[in-house]
Amino acid sequence: MTYPLVVATPAHAAAMALLHNCAFAVRERWGADAIGLQLALPGAFGWIAPAGGMILARVTADEAEILTLAVDPAVQRQGVGRALLGQTLATARQRGADVIYLEVASGNDSARSLYVAAGFVTIGCRQGYYPDGGDALVLRRPL
Ligand SMILES: CC(C)(COP(=O)(O)OP(=O)(O)OC[C@H]1O[C@@H](n2cnc3c(N)ncnc32)[C@H](O)[C@@H]1OP(=O)(O)O)[C@@H](O)C(=O)NCCC(=O)NCCS
Repeated sequence: MTYPLVVATPAHAAAMALLHNCAFAVRERWGADAIGLQLALPGAFGWIAPAGGMILARVTADEAEILTLAVDPAVQRQGVGRALLGQTLATARQRGADVIYLEVASGNDSARSLYVAAGFVTIGCRQGYYPDGGDALVLRRPL
């Protein structure tokens, strides 16, 4: 399945926050203000899947970072996350990054499966990183 994707702009911040809010637990949710601020950072970019997903990332010099990724539970496990991630890897490469990093909760099996399938490798662990005390794994993928 292929999904059309749209370049995210600050005008999309409210719609992206709605998507983020339906995918994440309450204390992990980002509001429109936070998303708008992230998108305004130098090197930041995002993609939206009108089918029900969003991703934010940032390129700094030759490194990229995925800031967040969310897919509406109503359309999860249908390839939307894979499409957003693949487009983001391509965009980061086009913008000059040669490596990309992200953080994922150690207990987030679905996201970890997605990232491993996309070629990410765990390179570190930040213990007690999340508000619930959970650990964050640091993943890396060459571009
Ligand atoms: C993680 C998330 C973005 C995945 O999006 P998605 O659109 O459901 O994922 P896809 O359908 O593109 O799945 C691609 C691959 O990822 C893996 N995967 C995704 N969801 C999975 C699940 N629930 N269980 C096991 N593997 C899963 C599989 O390898 C899958 O390929 P397959 O369906 O051919 O087996 C989505 O579950 C989500 O928004 N979760 C809540 C927010 C979140 O955790 N974001 C990531 C924070 S780092």
